[in-house]
Amino acid sequence: MWELRWWTSETTAIVTGANRGIGLEVAKLLAESGLTVIVTARDAARGLNAVELIRNHGPRVHFSLLDVADPASIAAFVAWFKDRFGQLDILVNNAAISFNGIHENTVKHAEVVLKTNFYGPKLLIEALLPVFRCSTSKSRILNLSSRLGLTNVSHHSHSIF
Ligand SMILES: NC(=O)c1ccc[n+]([C@@H]2O[C@H](COP(=O)([O-])OP(=O)(O)OC[C@H]3O[C@@H](n4cnc5c(N)ncnc54)[C@H](OP(=O)(O)O)[C@@H]3O)[C@@H](O)[C@H]2O)c1
Repeated sequence: MWELRWWTSETTAIVTGANRGIGLEVAKLLAESGLTVIVTARDAARGLNAVELIRNHGPRVHFSLLDVADPASIAAFVAWFKDRFGQLDILVNNAAISFNGIHENTVKHAEVVLKTNFYGPKLLIEALLPVFRCSTSKSRILNLSSRLGLTNVSHHSHSIF
């Protein structure tokens, strides 16, 4: 029979914005699957609180501060990660902000939104490329997005998704 499980406890996964919401749930699932999970958050207390919850799902859970909108924070995080783990298999770019309600589309906070939602993942991926290249498995990057990020979706169309 085929063995579908390609990962081991040495497989490392970073989740950004893992202190709540989808990021927290993804980190729980990765921990439950037995991977080494690096939980990151921009606030230490909120991040450590999440680590306590995630450790109920798996033992290999580590924490680091990471504000994806701050290039200095990205540099400090990547230096810490390289020193501690040396190789990376999975990056979950989950951290994001939106100041809009469900039917709003204001650009009032465009600068901070772009810094967080676009440049954050971009700069983080670029900084992590050397440790991705040390991975013994296929590297995987998961970018969470939204239909609003698509340029070819009509606002008047009805979607079944
Ligand atoms: N929920 C949905 O219906 C939905 C729909 C479409 C797309 N998405 C996408 O799914 C992802 C997660 O959504 P969610 O609903 O779980 O969001 P959420 O509950 O608002 O959580 C966002 C997470 O990102 C963190 N974050 C924000 N700015 C950050 C920064 N500069 N550095 C580090 N962390 C930062 C937040 O930290 P703090 O706690 O410190 O604020 C929080 O942990 C996002 O990428 C979002 O665009 C979600």
